[in-house]
Parts: sequence; C-alpha cells; structure tokens
Amino acid sequence: MSRPAGVLRYGLLPEPLIFERGAPGRTGATCDPTEVGGPAPVDVLPAGLRRDDGLAGLPEVSELDVVRHFTRLSQWNLSAATTLYPLGSCTMKYNPIVNEAIVRSPGFAALHPLLPDAWTQGALELMDRLAGFLRAVSGLPGISLQPAAGAHGELTGLKMVRAYHADRGNPRHRVLIPASAHGTNPASAALCGYTVTEMPANDAGILEVETVRAHLGPDVAAMMITNPNTIGLFERNIQAIAEAVREAGALLYCDGANMNALLGVAKPGDMGADVLQFNLHKTFSTPHGGGGPGAGPVAVSERLEPYLPTPRLVRDASGLRWSEDFPKTIGRVRSFHGNVGMLVRAYGYLRTLGGDGLTDVTAMAVLNANYIRAKLADVLPLAFQTPSLHECVFTDRDLDATGAHTLDLAKRLLDYGFFAPTIYFPLVVPGAIMIEPTETESKQTLDEFIAAVRAIVAEARETPELVKEAPHATFVGRLDETRAARRPVLRWKPPTADPG
Ligand SMILES: Cc1ncc(COP(=O)(O)O)c(C=O)c1O
Repeated sequence: MSRPAGVLRYGLLPEPLIFERGAPGRTGATCDPTEVGGPAPVDVLPAGLRRDDGLAGLPEVSELDVVRHFTRLSQWNLSAATTLYPLGSCTMKYNPIVNEAIVRSPGFAALHPLLPDAWTQGALELMDRLAGFLRAVSGLPGISLQPAAGAHGELTGLKMVRAYHADRGNPRHRVLIPASAHGTNPASAALCGYTVTEMPANDAGILEVETVRAHLGPDVAAMMITNPNTIGLFERNIQAIAEAVREAGALLYCDGANMNALLGVAKPGDMGADVLQFNLHKTFSTPHGGGGPGAGPVAVSERLEPYLPTPRLVRDASGLRWSEDFPKTIGRVRSFHGNVGMLVRAYGYLRTLGGDGLTDVTAMAVLNANYIRAKLADVLPLAFQTPSLHECVFTDRDLDATGAHTLDLAKRLLDYGFFAPTIYFPLVVPGAIMIEPTETESKQTLDEFIAAVRAIVAEARETPELVKEAPHATFVGRLDETRAARRPVLRWKPPTADPG
C-alpha cells in the first residue's frame, strides 16, 4: 500500500486509511429489508455475473468509525465554509444553507426522472422559471438547462454553432480565441472539430477589434470571448468585435463564467452574443469543487434557437411537457434533465435575492475585488493597470530577489488559514496571483486576508526560507505536485490483490 508523499504533522500515530480501521464483523447501520418483496438478487442474476470471492478487503467499520474518519479528513482541508476561498476565476462564493434545505425537500429529492410530465409539474415549473430568469439576465431568448458544467455548456454551444453553419452548407473550420481564455475554450472548440486561432490582447490586457478583424475570414465559425476576461478586465471593444464577427458571417460565443461581474448591470445579448454558457455553480452559488456536479445552462440568440438540445420544455393547455419536436436540434447532451438539484439551488438563490439583490451581488463582488486590489498594489505589482471588475491579478515580479515566488506565497497563505488564490493563471501573466473574493466576504475578512498577504511579502524579504518551505501549520506539508498530478494514487487495493 502506498501513501501520498508528504510530511504528516499532527498526532503521534500515522493517520489510518478507512481500510485500516474496523474489525471483522463490525458494522454500522443495517438497512431494512425492502418492502417490495420478490426473489433475492442472487437467484435472479446469471451465474456468470455473480462474484464468488465475497467482498474481501472492504472496510468493516461502525458508524462512529466512519463519522470520525471523514470528519477528520474534512478538517484537513480549507473550504468556503471555513475561510475565505479567493480562487480567481472560480467564484467560490458562500452557498446559502436555505438552498440545501429547498433541494432536500422530498418533492424534489425523491423525484424520479422517468415520472410522467403530468406528475412532475412542480419541478418543470421551477425549470421553466429558472430558464426565464436566465433569459432575463443574459438578454438571450433560448435556454437549455441540460449541460452539466461550464465546459459542457461550451461544447453544447459550439455544437449549435456547427449545426448552424452546416445548415447553411459549410460548418467552417476555425474558431478565434483570445490568449487569456480559460483552457476549456480551445478544448471545447477542438472537441467540436475546429482549429483554434489564438489572439493576443493589447498592452492593457484588452482585445482590439483590429486584431479580431485581422484573423477573421470566411472559414471562421465563431469567436469565443470571456467578458469580463480572465484577468477581470471588461472587454470594452465587445460591441465593435461583435459587429466585425457578424459581418464575417461568424457567431459570437460569450463565455459566461464571469457573469458575477455583470448580473443586473449588463447583458451579453445586448453586447452581440449569440451563445453563452452560465456556470450556475459559480454565479448562482451552487456548490462546486472536487469535480462535484455542476450545471452549465446555455443561452442562445434567435438564430441558434432551432438547434437547442432536446427535449425542450413547452407549455400547452395541460401544462408543461418535454417535447422532442425540434427537427434541427443537436439532440440530447445529458441524460434525463441535467443536474436538477443544482437547478433547484440556483432557483432558490435567484428568488432569495430578486432583481435588486442580484445587482447588489455584482456591485459588492466588484467592490471587494477592487478593495483588495487597492490595498495590495503597493506590495504586489498588478498585472495590468486597467481598472478591473470582480477579480484582480497580481504578479510576483517584485519578489524575484527574495527567491520566493507565487507558489510559495500561496502555500504560506494556508498557514494563515486562507485558501490560496489561483496561481500561474491566466498563462499570459507570468507568476500570476489571481484573487476573486466574491461578494459574500465582509470587510473584516478582506482586511484579515490583506494583512496576511502583506505579512507574507514582508516575510519573503526578511526570512525567505519560512515562505519557501511553507506550509508549516497544515496537516500535510509540501507535496510533490508534479508527481501527484502525473502519477496520482487514487485507489487502495486489498493486500491480497494482484499488485499490478
Ligand atoms: C472563464 C471560464 N470558462 C470556463 C470554465 C469551465 O467551467 P467548468 O469548470 O464548470 O467546466 C471556467 C472554470 O473555471 C472558467 O473560469
């Protein structure tokens, strides 16, 4: 059995894995036998599919063993529930508990996706209303709630772009993407069969319409742009860019992952977007991280509506129902109706805040980021002087002489009890430190964070080793991150199993 490399710090004994706890025959809760009755599964399954080696190696533990084990593990981590989580571009805002209460109500939690429409009118109504809110926020008329994440929304959007052009006789073969874009943008374009042309920003971090024009041509299917961009700067040439894209017969894809900076203030539809994905798990406070379920609904202009995924919700005299009757659809992109639990939470968030509340979200998100920007700019150089919106990007330029770098600063922040910002992204900013506090943080927390960063910069100058060897106060010390990423050990095998 191999354990992750790293220094274990707390406790005198090594931390056991769940497989190393328990004892033969120890159990937790026992499920009641099903009330449905019928034959035992073993009598129904074909002999060839039944395992005859029992369940050797599974942990035999009590409920208390399990609770303690996982509670302890959860305490080794930092999360938005324990501290500021300023992970730029990820919008790790607080996930209100009321949304958890709503989504756990049996009417939603116990709903089977195969129930007939007539029996699920409440859930369908919620989805229809959520689509209405997303329409209002984006300024785009068509909505699909199916995609399961931002990147999945991108793929869905680009598939519609492809279908649109194919319908006109030529799917075209190129997509334009700014150099600062999130990696999922070129990945989605490539998955859709497009080649990507990368476009540089100007010295202020903004895309110029002349740059776009120089790359446009009859083979360009779409341009993907994130606004505000991944440096937190508003792409102020967006309308001129949209016009140029339209003149070239291409479509404008807006990556809506940064909608937290626009809610209630500006609509991508008004800026000329044809398609946009929402990241509900960012903007609308549904939990994310650790690869958990997200939701990436797409909004489209009239031109793309015929291509939306099916089934689509339609309303007739008997209420809402799912319809497949859209001949130009790109088809289904997700089983059943998407991650409905996320849709319920996002709806709860939108209803709790209302229109004015959403506008306040944007104002506070921008204010908080700019507060941090103003309070740290004298100790960490800004990547760009251009005014920023909901996140701010610094560089480690001035730390060079100390030998400490962005990674060290991020690690040392863990000792101060804060999750680290996004580092080394966007790639166009060397040594980037990208901070997105979100609107849910108080001035008190921001001041504590600012004080911590300032203290770390001072440490880097006075006692650089302290910073370079951080973290010192976490359960696990500095890991070999390259090995952890390239050769992750993600499963445990029973000692008797084939070691291969
Ligand atoms: C700008 C941007 N676009 C797209 C994505 C992809 O979203 P997801 O992680 O939900 O697939 C992200 C995620 O962080 C992002 O920041």
